Amino acid sequence: MAGRTVLVTGGTAGIGRATALGLATMGARLAIIGRDRGRTEGAAREIRAAGGGQVDVFVADLSSQSQVRRLAGEVLQSLSRIDVLVNNVGGYWNTRHVTADGLERTFALNHLAPFLLTSLLLDRLTQSAPARVVTVSSNAQAMGHIDFDDLQGERSYSGARAYNQSKLANVLFTYELARRLQATSVTSNALHPGVVSTSFGAEDPGRVQRLFAPFMRPFMKAPAQGAATSVHLASAPGLEQVTGGYFANGKPKRSSKCSYDEAAAARLWQVSADLVGLTAPATTS
Ligand SMILES: NC(=O)c1ccc[n+]([C@@H]2O[C@H](COP(=O)([O-])OP(=O)(O)OC[C@H]3O[C@@H](n4cnc5c(N)ncnc54)[C@H](OP(=O)(O)O)[C@@H]3O)[C@@H](O)[C@H]2O)c1
Repeated sequence: MAGRTVLVTGGTAGIGRATALGLATMGARLAIIGRDRGRTEGAAREIRAAGGGQVDVFVADLSSQSQVRRLAGEVLQSLSRIDVLVNNVGGYWNTRHVTADGLERTFALNHLAPFLLTSLLLDRLTQSAPARVVTVSSNAQAMGHIDFDDLQGERSYSGARAYNQSKLANVLFTYELARRLQATSVTSNALHPGVVSTSFGAEDPGRVQRLFAPFMRPFMKAPAQGAATSVHLASAPGLEQVTGGYFANGKPKRSSKCSYDEAAAARLWQVSADLVGLTAPATTS
């Protein structure tokens, strides 16, 4: 990875920090995004110490579209190339929360943020090609359903339903992006990291998570193991031209039947573009 620049969202903790650490030790120049400056600087110091290379720090609350736009501007100013974008940030909330933009938080952070950030950085990725977009989904996508009549759980909200939908949205986005980028050398793949012992869902956990997580922790993957598929997709030489795939345990895997619905993917893309205020779909082909 020497000479390559990798941008990781959510690089302060969990799978994202382990992904950044893994890629830094392979020689990549890292740029990490966190929402708290102190935590992000702290993670960057740790990653620098492990990898020995440059680690840039960007701070933004990705649930806010104005912050994503400001962040993208700063990234484009600082990074002359982006070889890999790892869309890693994601969360689970048991109860319904609303972002600064008035959007349901799971949909906004897990799906709209990577959609908008990737769109705003796409020209830089294309200029840096061969380049890769890696999006962290989850096997929860298999239980997901895109409810176009109630995308943001206004009529009825369940944390699990919102999360599953957002993770299916990650896969639909990944596949649609791959189709739109067919004429370029930018690939787009999604993955399931495994069940990983992190702070995932800790802000607003459900009763089941509160009760069972402590007992399940010893059986979960460590963050470095959970990051392995992200690291593989970001770096494996054999994957340079592999696009439009879903991976788990470092291997390709079929995602849910719904995730291959191209009409649903195109519709979701359009709805998302409207919700983030992108007038035209982001495509370079
Ligand atoms: N853990 C699992 O078992 C599991 C399973 C399947 C899929 N996944 C997926 O893996 C990804 C990473 O999850 P994780 O387990 O590593 O979660 P985590 O431990 O909660 O880490 C989440 C990361 O995202 C950052 N973040 C959260 N909200 C943010 C916001 N509004 N703006 C900017 N950054 C924000 C956090 O920063 P702070 O330091 O500020 O909190 C942290 O760096 C997610 O997409 C999740 O859906 C996880």
